[in-house]
Amino acid sequence: MVVTPIKHGADKKCTMGATITGLDLNDVSNEDLAALREATHRYQLVMIKGQHDLDPVKHWELVTRLDPEAPNVHGHGTVQQFKKVGGLLSQRDVPCIPSAPNIRLIGKGYQGDDHYGIKGFTAHGPSNDYHRYPPSAESFAAGNTQFQRWHIDAPLYEREPPHFTALRAVKCPDQGDIQVNWDDGSGLSMTVKPGQTAFFSTIQLYDLLSDEEKMLADNSWVEYAPFPYMWIEKCKGRPNGLGLENEGLEHKIEEMPEWDPAKIKTYPMVWVNPLGKKALQVHGIAVRKMFLKPTPTSEVEVVEDITRIRQLLLSWQDRILRPEYIMMTPVENGDVQMWDNWSVFHSAVDYPEKYGTRTMHQANLGASDSPVGPVPIPVSVTS
Ligand SMILES: [Fe+2]
Repeated sequence: MVVTPIKHGADKKCTMGATITGLDLNDVSNEDLAALREATHRYQLVMIKGQHDLDPVKHWELVTRLDPEAPNVHGHGTVQQFKKVGGLLSQRDVPCIPSAPNIRLIGKGYQGDDHYGIKGFTAHGPSNDYHRYPPSAESFAAGNTQFQRWHIDAPLYEREPPHFTALRAVKCPDQGDIQVNWDDGSGLSMTVKPGQTAFFSTIQLYDLLSDEEKMLADNSWVEYAPFPYMWIEKCKGRPNGLGLENEGLEHKIEEMPEWDPAKIKTYPMVWVNPLGKKALQVHGIAVRKMFLKPTPTSEVEVVEDITRIRQLLLSWQDRILRPEYIMMTPVENGDVQMWDNWSVFHSAVDYPEKYGTRTMHQANLGASDSPVGPVPIPVSVTS
């Protein structure tokens, strides 16, 4: 097993990424597993080459071996549970592989008469329909698109965020380039291959904060909504995929199904990884309350104004949403991209179907532990 850090172009400021060769995910020794875990924490996103023949059962086994104490189920629970409370996320059909029900098939286009036991399925991947201001049909057909939704893979209610997501490219679109436009007045855009996932590092994002902002982030925490993706199911995304339009479309809390206060997730704003690095890891679209402490000795200010919560987070997160910080390294068929889901944000990017079918197998496992910040936060807060 050889780990080679990715050399980014001179126009890039990306700090993450490595390629791994000489590893067969159908047959991973305990030593290689430990090295893979370490490399994923260190490089945050690893591309494990040549996994064309990965058995979905072994794919799932990999994520369970990386967190053996965790409940043996996908980060979002079973497909049935996901459909019931997934809200915004479950508006598209995401089938599971029959032989390994925790492996999800995601992609775009017709997946064949029989794909690992899934018969005649056409995938409708993450699309720009999520945006309030998507590109026009003509512009999209000409190859203009947007980042779909910057996120971490996390239910943010009941279950813990998966440490890792392992995404195998069974088939990538064949050809061409597309243009991702910010469409937010900044004029920013980048040219990429269709069907790729975009990433940025939230460790690097933390480093972009001022010392004062770092102290505020270190000492503050957020409370996520109950069934957060159901709470925002009627909301629409901003054009650059980061955050939501503030239109007051969130469900009123009394409209939500009965929820258990013990399952509400309260996490520090900053998550410290096993190597001691700090990541600004706040999933802004799902936050319902923010608890601000500018210094260790300040009084806690509770913020419940959703617009204000989102504005503060955007003023920080928008700094890294620049082409030089975004990693979209081309992926080949057979690559498994595995990322440290506690220190990166990622987004799909929709593309016109004429570029070809996309077939991905996705696995992640709700973690056995909770994110830990640089400063302890109260165990339970208001609900
Ligand atoms: Fe994701």
